[in-house]
Amino acid sequence: MLDQTTSRFEVRIAPLRKIFLKNSAYRHFEQVFTELLERRSSEIADGVTREARCIALIGGSGSGKTSAVRYMLAHHSQLVLGGPETERRDVVSLAVPTPATLKFVGQTTLSALGFPLRRERTSQTIWDMVKDHLQAHQTMFLHYDEA
Ligand SMILES: Nc1ncnc2c1ncn2[C@@H]1O[C@H](COP(=O)(O)OP(=O)(O)OP(=O)(O)O)[C@@H](O)[C@H]1O
Ligand SMILES: [Mg+2]
Repeated sequence: MLDQTTSRFEVRIAPLRKIFLKNSAYRHFEQVFTELLERRSSEIADGVTREARCIALIGGSGSGKTSAVRYMLAHHSQLVLGGPETERRDVVSLAVPTPATLKFVGQTTLSALGFPLRRERTSQTIWDMVKDHLQAHQTMFLHYDEA
């Protein structure tokens, strides 16, 4: 009985779960991200390398950090995220693994770039490989969820 009620409830709220609310935190994040994206794109066009920048999304559990990034990546008009016709991946997104050691994070990053390691490597080699793959995919942003 309870299962049936739960399932009917789930069916009714399923369309609501698809709604993403662009609240003020989201709009701020989108604006800051777009500024960084435009700045980095113009630096690349000019052949300039400046210090790396990051955006930290900080909030309690369930406040919408993961949803905000997912929505923005799926809807940002200026982003290329790979596909059959291109190697380009402006953003690579991954969940931080446990344990979050330098080596394991590097290995997971490499895997997210489509290059799972088959042999034991040192941290230094792994991160060198990460840099090479980021360059090959023209990746501008790495997204680490659950830092
Ligand atoms: N802007 C939003 N509009 C609609 N639903 C939202 C929004 N932000 C979050 N939610 C909903 O709230 C729930 C929790 O969001 P989410 O998983 O993104 O939170 P989180 O901050 O990443 O949490 P955690 O720190 O536990 O990973 C999800 O079911 C998500 O669909
Ligand atoms: Mg999350």
